[in-house]
This record gives sequence, C-alpha cells and structure tokens, in this order.
Amino acid sequence: MWNNAKDRMLRERATEVIPGGMYGHQSVALMPEDTPQFFIKAEGTRITDVDGNVYIDFMCAYGPNLLGYNHPDVMRAVSDQQSRIDASTGPSPLIVDLAEAMVSMISHADWAMFCKNGSDATMMALMIARAYRGKRKVLVARKAYHGSMPWSTPRPAGVVDEDRAHVIYFDYGDPQSLKDAVVSADGDLAGIFATPYRHDVFADQSMPDREYAQVARDLADEHDALLIVDDVRAGFRVTRDCTWESIGVRPDLSAWGKVLGNGQPISALMGNNRARDAASQIYATGSYWFAAVPMAAALETLRIIRETKYLEDMHRIGKAFRDGLNAQAKDIGIGVRCTGPETLPMLQFEDDPDFRVCYGFCRAAMKRGVYLSPYHNMFTNAAMTETDIAQTLEATGAAFEEIKSNRASLQPSTKVMAMTGS
Ligand SMILES: Cc1ncc(COP(=O)(O)O)c(C=O)c1O
Repeated sequence: MWNNAKDRMLRERATEVIPGGMYGHQSVALMPEDTPQFFIKAEGTRITDVDGNVYIDFMCAYGPNLLGYNHPDVMRAVSDQQSRIDASTGPSPLIVDLAEAMVSMISHADWAMFCKNGSDATMMALMIARAYRGKRKVLVARKAYHGSMPWSTPRPAGVVDEDRAHVIYFDYGDPQSLKDAVVSADGDLAGIFATPYRHDVFADQSMPDREYAQVARDLADEHDALLIVDDVRAGFRVTRDCTWESIGVRPDLSAWGKVLGNGQPISALMGNNRARDAASQIYATGSYWFAAVPMAAALETLRIIRETKYLEDMHRIGKAFRDGLNAQAKDIGIGVRCTGPETLPMLQFEDDPDFRVCYGFCRAAMKRGVYLSPYHNMFTNAAMTETDIAQTLEATGAAFEEIKSNRASLQPSTKVMAMTGS
C-alpha cells in the first residue's frame, strides 16, 4: 500500500536546513500533492522513493537517464576508470578520445569542450559568441530555458537588469520576430540562441519549422554572429546528431549535457572552425570539468548510441505510450493533447485552465506506480519495454477513471496558477 511517512519526515527536516526545503528543478513544489521528494534507488526504468514505493519513471532524472539507470556497460566503464584516475592534476587521455568521438558524430562540429552541467555549456556558448567579434547582444526565445545562470534563470530573484542588459527576446518559431530582434540589436549582434524545438514548460511542444531555422542561420551569417542550438535537453533523443541536422540547418555552436554520460556528470559545447579562435580565448573551467570517470561513461554511452538501435526502440516505445494515452482519453471522453517528440512527450488536458485535471491525473498515476509530470515534458529511455508500457497504461487507465469520477472534487493548482499567471 502506497505511503509517504518517511518522505514527510525528511521534508520536515529539510525545511530546517535546506532553503525552501529544496531548490531548483528537483524540488517537488510544482508537482502534485504527495509527490515524493526523496529517492533511494534507481535501476533500469524504475525509481524507488524513500518509503519503498517503486515507480516507472517518465522523468529520467529530467533527462540524463537515456539507456536505463545503472546501465551495465556504462557502469563497467565507470568502475574500470575509477580504479585508475578521475579528478586529478591534469586531464586523462580520455578527453581527446571523447572530443574525437563527439566531433565524429556531430556534423557541424570541429571541436569540443567539456564541462559538468548544461548551464556551463550554454554559458560558454554565450561567452564565445561575445568573444567572437567583440559584440554584445544575444537573442533568446521568450520562455525558452537555457539554464540557471543569471542571464537565463527563469526566476527574477537575485538577478539585476544589468545581467540581461544585452539579451533580446523573440517569439520562438516566428521569423519576423527574430528579424525584429536582430534589428533592435543595432549592429551589436553576438549570437542567436535556438532551442532545437519548442519545449517550454506548461505549453504545447512544437517542432521547428525549416524556414524559421534557415532564417536564424541566414541572419547569423548576415551579421557575422554565431548561431547556437541548445541541445542540452533534446540531444540524442531525437537524432544521433545535432537536432537541427534533421532539418538541414547547421549551427556554429551546440550545447550538450544530460544524456552524455547516461547519468554521470558531464556536458559539452561543440563548435565549428569559425568559432574556434573565440573558444580558445575564453577562460571557462571548473575543478571537476576534466574528471575522467564521467568521460569514460560518455565514451561508452556514445558507443551504445552509435552501435545499437536504442533510438528506434525509444521511438517505438514512446509511440506506444502516446497512442495508449490518446486511446484511453478518447474512450473515456476526456480531451488530451500529447505533443513533442515521442521520446520527450508532453501531456496536457483540454478545458483545464487551472490545471486541476492534469495534476489530479498525474497524482492518481503516481499512486499507482507511474511517475509523470503535469507541467514539464517527460522523457523515455531505451530500457523501457512493451511490458513497461502495458503496466504504465494500466495505471493511467485507472487514473483516467479516477479523475472522471471525482472531477468535481479536484482542486485547482493555485501555486501553478500563481507562477504561470493563469
Ligand atoms: C534546453 C536546456 N538548456 C540548458 C539546461 C541546463 O542544464 P543543467 O540543468 O544541466 O544546467 C537545461 C536543463 O534542463 C535545458 O533543458
């Protein structure tokens, strides 16, 4: 029987010693009531919370779990490397092997730099774009997430206007808005940040339009600025290359993270020869950026990406999940919208302005052992099987029944409404 007694106790303790009880994207403040905050085990497709409840995990650590938690080949590479060298006085030869492997896989790229988190990679992209011609303005799509640094964090606390003085916003997917933003850069354009597809929170996801992507490329060329694709979230879940390669538009820089080490801490910035000099001029580093163990994990993850049909399997399984949800919703007469790539599915409900139905649904699924998000795109992984999807759909089928029968008692998600301004 599901219970969360230990989780509640830990939350109380956390409130005393961790600001706000928890911070950042893994805080459950925006998740449905009772969503567990603390976990003690992750294996394959499953996570176990501190009370021992097991979930099929459709958040995948918010992305890093690509091949299954504790993938045996990746973990073998980790333990082999651990016995030799990890963080040390200089990088291991693996940094060259890994740069070569990434350069051979990412078509637009001639070089690689490694760091820890996606925010490090996007920050380096920003610095390189400015170092490139000494210009200042960067264009960023409204509501697009590029990490938690002051220039991009979604919350205003601790950010001063000067941190964003040279950021100009445009509407994602709208060529005219992009052109207008370039005009307002007034000859001072350093770079254009592009999200590979629109994956904002609380919003339908939409795939990039080739024309829009080409306009971004042309504008960058015309103004001798750098085009940056932020593949931190979508990388290797859409293609085995930079995501925009599939629509035939090549950036100068692309930012990578999350999946790269299948859960081991490593991210990357990839770039072309145009950006090489600027990249060699910036000073960006960190005590753990050169550690060898995550690089060993990344090399093994990349080998699996190249040599197996993990991506095709993920698309098939993701489609089964999406088709199943759509069929259940239709049968029961509840309107849903499933958007985004099948490997990064987003679920929203029709006629749900205060999110009560979506939150009620995810809570009901959670109590039946399926961890979903009501506001963020979800993630599938290559360890998921047809059996996992059948078990998932059993839980979601019951969750649909539950929200249909108790719709009148579902509570509006006031915290969410306050945050989204709904
Ligand atoms: C598109 C995108 N860029 C950058 C980041 C920042 O990555 P990290 O949280 O590893 O710093 C994220 C994280 O979710 C992301 O989705």
